[in-house]
Amino acid sequence: MAFYSEDIIQEVCDRNDIVDVIGQYVKLTRKGSSLFGLCPFHNEKTGSFSVSPSKQMYYCFGCGAGGNVLTFVREYENYSFTEAIEYLADRAGIDLPKVEMTEEEKRASDLKSRIYEINKETATFYYYQLLNSNDKKGYEYFKNKRGLTDETIKNWGLGYAGMSRNNLYAYLKNKGFKDEELNEAGLFHYSEKEGFKDKFWNRVMFPILDVNRHVIAFGGRVMGEGEPKYLNSPETRAFSKKNNLFGLYIARSTRKKFFILCEGYIDVISLHQAGFTNAVASLGTAFGQSQAYLIKKYVDEVYLAYDSDEAGIKAKLRALSILKEAGISARVIDSSPCKDPDEFVRSPEYGPVEYEKRIKEAKNGFLFSIEVLERDYDLKDPDGKTRFFKEVAGRLLSFEDELERNNYTDAVAGMYSITSESLKKMINELALKGVNTRDERPVFKSGFNQNKKDGMIEAQKLLITWLIEEEGLYEQLKEYISPEDFTSDLYKNVASQVFEQFESEGRVNPASIMNRFMDEDEQREIAGLFNARLKAVESEESKVKAIRDVLYKVKKNSFDTREDSSTDPKELMLLIEEKKKLEGYKNIPVRLR
Ligand code: CTP
Ligand code: MN
Repeated sequence: MAFYSEDIIQEVCDRNDIVDVIGQYVKLTRKGSSLFGLCPFHNEKTGSFSVSPSKQMYYCFGCGAGGNVLTFVREYENYSFTEAIEYLADRAGIDLPKVEMTEEEKRASDLKSRIYEINKETATFYYYQLLNSNDKKGYEYFKNKRGLTDETIKNWGLGYAGMSRNNLYAYLKNKGFKDEELNEAGLFHYSEKEGFKDKFWNRVMFPILDVNRHVIAFGGRVMGEGEPKYLNSPETRAFSKKNNLFGLYIARSTRKKFFILCEGYIDVISLHQAGFTNAVASLGTAFGQSQAYLIKKYVDEVYLAYDSDEAGIKAKLRALSILKEAGISARVIDSSPCKDPDEFVRSPEYGPVEYEKRIKEAKNGFLFSIEVLERDYDLKDPDGKTRFFKEVAGRLLSFEDELERNNYTDAVAGMYSITSESLKKMINELALKGVNTRDERPVFKSGFNQNKKDGMIEAQKLLITWLIEEEGLYEQLKEYISPEDFTSDLYKNVASQVFEQFESEGRVNPASIMNRFMDEDEQREIAGLFNARLKAVESEESKVKAIRDVLYKVKKNSFDTREDSSTDPKELMLLIEEKKKLEGYKNIPVRLR
């Protein structure tokens, strides 16, 4: 992929100071060693967006967007990697060497835009088939079975793939697309015997557009019963399910403060037709974390409009936890007794006016999850009741902000005839017990979402961040820790580059490490790794303590993991010996400059 050598990329980055570049787009004010401003990647009123001159990186504490100067230009201007390099080189007056692309590289860079073109032609083709083919099955399905108007059909570019399994292929060949290109678009089955066959046939078609209105994929539904009900394009160079949302290109510009998150394409289209143009849906899979961050670029609040059945409740809880993690507040819309929002807004008995009311009455996501939890406990039994309140207290503990935590505590206490005081007492006990037994102050929070694994990951992030931020810390800790102590492949990889740079240059250039990773999701994760923060730590003394804590945690986890996966008795013995030293980690000498 890299048409330019690593050295050239590095030079382009070195010659474009990140503060100057981002300063062109975002008003930044200095606060300590970093500059802060309003994040350009999500809606916010307080500045959580930080730019570090020493790390040459940016990171948003609100939405998790982050990277180096190249990442910023790619994300902000929507440039490809090459475009971003060319832009920055030009800005710094660097003459880029003329690089001859190999055939393979040329193909890769062109392919994505060719797939966009193929998909666009395909959408036109399906739309034309819907309206003009002799066979009116598709059109009648949308009109009669789904109650969609001509205007809706046009706005969404809905279509029809008829009975033939050759028509689309013939149409696209006639437009001049090559077999190699068509093969990558995900619209055909290829076999030696039969050649190319249209993947979608006898289905109504939903084109899927990204925020920039590129047609990136299709979903196709059977008209009536049949399996699979929906058939979707596979992942291609142009289509990544987890990074897109159906309807986002419209919802983003509605200026509503929240999105309505649905399960299905039809739910979104029906809601838009009924006037709720801020509805979006995930694409053929469950809603995921990347989609939450995508939403956060536009709004801070989501109303869940999932199905009313048991599966829908499970899906709601899952989505609630993902949204919370991304810092998005959530409400739950009740569509009962209808099955889903599509049925609700089209029902003569309920309809759009009633749906507007359901939106106004939508239940707070946290309180919803507590109500669902309640079903697992027998509140008439004193023991059951105690266990329930303990679990509730654990979840309340996950609110870091005291005022917010107190408000929720009061709300929950009000729901279950218990006094706020006794609930708060339980929360405090939990806070002191579970988390950090050796500390007067809880360093790691436990509770809802903040399980052991999250704590581990947080500890690893903190360790990396402190190693690069605290001068001289690496020299003091290097005998205790190695890249192998980090859990995921990505973290191991980044840690080993950090360690390597310390060894060879005595300092770390985080922005250069970032350049080794092309994928924007990985870059975001690495930015998080270099920008971890611990709220409770202020004094130097508590910082030293926290450093030892974190080192201990990372190390202990590393031992435990290796112990669990080791089958060699000799190795196990060695591990157990080594593990005995672990207690000593609580007192290793650490000096901060
Ligand atoms: N889905 C899918 N593949 C399936 C079933 C569902 O990709 N075999 C995805 C589709 O994105 C669909 C969503 O899951 O829009 C919701 O599915 P479901 O609740 O079954 O469908 P509805 O949206 O209710 O569709 P309809 O009203 O057309 O039955
Ligand atoms: Mn439905």
